Amino acid sequence: MTAATISEFRASDLGEVLALLASAGLPGVGVPEHLDGFLIACEDGRLVATAGLEDHGTVGILRSVAVVPGCRGRGVAATLVRAIIGRSHAKGHEALYLLTNAAESYFERFGFQRVERAQVRSAALASKQFTEKACEKSTVMVLEHKRSGRVSMNEHAIREAVRERYARAATAGTPCCAPAPITFADGRAVPEEIVDTSLGCGAPIEAAALKPGETVVDLGSGAGLDAFLAADRVGPSGRAIGVDMTPEMIAKARANASRLGAANVEFRLGEIEHLPLPDACADVLVSNCVINLLPDKRPAFSEAFRVLRPGGRLVVSDIVSAAPVPDEFKTPELWSACLAGALPEADYLGLIAGAGFTSVEVLSKRGWNAAGLFSATVRAVKPKGV
Ligand SMILES: C[S@@+](CC[C@H](N)C(=O)[O-])C[C@H]1O[C@@H](n2cnc3c(N)ncnc32)[C@H](O)[C@@H]1O
Repeated sequence: MTAATISEFRASDLGEVLALLASAGLPGVGVPEHLDGFLIACEDGRLVATAGLEDHGTVGILRSVAVVPGCRGRGVAATLVRAIIGRSHAKGHEALYLLTNAAESYFERFGFQRVERAQVRSAALASKQFTEKACEKSTVMVLEHKRSGRVSMNEHAIREAVRERYARAATAGTPCCAPAPITFADGRAVPEEIVDTSLGCGAPIEAAALKPGETVVDLGSGAGLDAFLAADRVGPSGRAIGVDMTPEMIAKARANASRLGAANVEFRLGEIEHLPLPDACADVLVSNCVINLLPDKRPAFSEAFRVLRPGGRLVVSDIVSAAPVPDEFKTPELWSACLAGALPEADYLGLIAGAGFTSVEVLSKRGWNAAGLFSATVRAVKPKGV
């Protein structure tokens, strides 16, 4: 697994980014105008890779994917590309374009397809990237952000409602689900102010039976409680990585990590449908009250499958329903409150199995409410030899 840390671009990185692009033969034109869309990867404090997202309203352009020579072939670029795809999706882009001279087959693995310029949307064609003379002969590729047919509402509206609710929760601390009582492995109580930040609906860490040395990824890590418990259980030879799409939650989780002095835990900003992690890097994936919030749950389960090592396990606590949630309840507000996005239990288990997992079993159920919603903790295994 790459040791690179992915982070937002800082103004002080501009010179190094431009130098890296120049050494990779990539144009620096337009970089200063799109700095807020750039991500960087650093190792031991040294910038080793970059990638950028240009926002052109209805479409995005992925650009400037470059890695310093000694760090190539270790998945750093792929991690950055997935993070940019996730951001483009989150911005509500219909499609993400890129221009390349030699890396067509590399980008095909993320779902990009070659496209004629005549078929490119006008918002992209008007960009500097497309009008630049040096790019006239480049191959154009596109990734269409398919919207699921499963919900009638705008998926972008759901995602924004979710992000807004959890940004508010990160700053105000308003729980949506009942947290479980919490202690570290040696019996010490987790500080109350950290327990109070929990928005989970189950105890996936207890169910995951973590072992020392394991790498655990927490999908939708919120303010970090489960990641801290995981880091405690796997000890100094293991590590925990939390991924969350809400910047305020990531900031809170990092502040909580500093308060606890937790060294083997880190938090990455990203969507769990496009995990900023390489293939087969995790022994265990956990998640607590998150997947019900996704407009389409399937990409999260296939990403979980990709990121788990063969033989690894997925342990998810989530809200499911006894019967389909009626369409009239499917507003962005109710969705973001863990109410409207719940799937019937059998459908939920079917999606996990459909992503390739085996031994899918419900370990426990609790907290039925009048609307027929309840919390289930589910365990599944990625088969060996895949
Ligand atoms: C109900 S809270 C649970 C947080 C945490 N798991 C806990 O137990 O406290 C849901 C979290 O999922 C995050 N989230 C929702 N959709 C997400 C997505 N598509 N990708 C990453 N994070 C997401 C939200 O930002 C929020 O922090």
